Amino acid sequence: MENFNRKLMNTTIDDISIIEIPRVHDERGLLAVIEKTTIPFKIERVYYLYDVPSDAFRGGHAHKELYQLIIPLSGSFDVLLKDGENSKTINLNKPHKGLLVVPGIWREIDNFSSGCVCLVLASSEYDELDYIRDFNDFLSFKEF
Ligand code: TYD
Repeated sequence: MENFNRKLMNTTIDDISIIEIPRVHDERGLLAVIEKTTIPFKIERVYYLYDVPSDAFRGGHAHKELYQLIIPLSGSFDVLLKDGENSKTINLNKPHKGLLVVPGIWREIDNFSSGCVCLVLASSEYDELDYIRDFNDFLSFKEF
């Protein structure tokens, strides 16, 4: 197995948290704002999913070093998280609540609502070498 940061892979689903995004509310609506103090990593990339068919299955991989904040800007979807030992499913459905996914966690995303928009803030630029796309490889990285 190639070099990787063992400490970053030694995570569990208990390291995953919901981050509440501060909002300003007045009669004109809501304004949600993410500043550098809102999230525990420096944002190096932003991408979003839209026009997602309701039966789509996304994710199905883990990252070795990448941190992500996943935000349901519109609509909802389910995120299944696995650390090799335990798993949990979180339904994301509030645009001011983001899911902080740390490295070393397998994720699968499905059950997209119609018109859903999923925004992802990421701690580094796209790098296919950071992906673990095979679940058995993932278990090996986690030393199961
Ligand atoms: P992937 O991360 O597997 O998508 P998801 O986790 O949402 O199912 O990426 C899908 C494709 O898009 C894959 O070919 C890689 C490419 N891609 C980029 O080129 N840049 C990016 O920033 C991301 C996230 C994906």
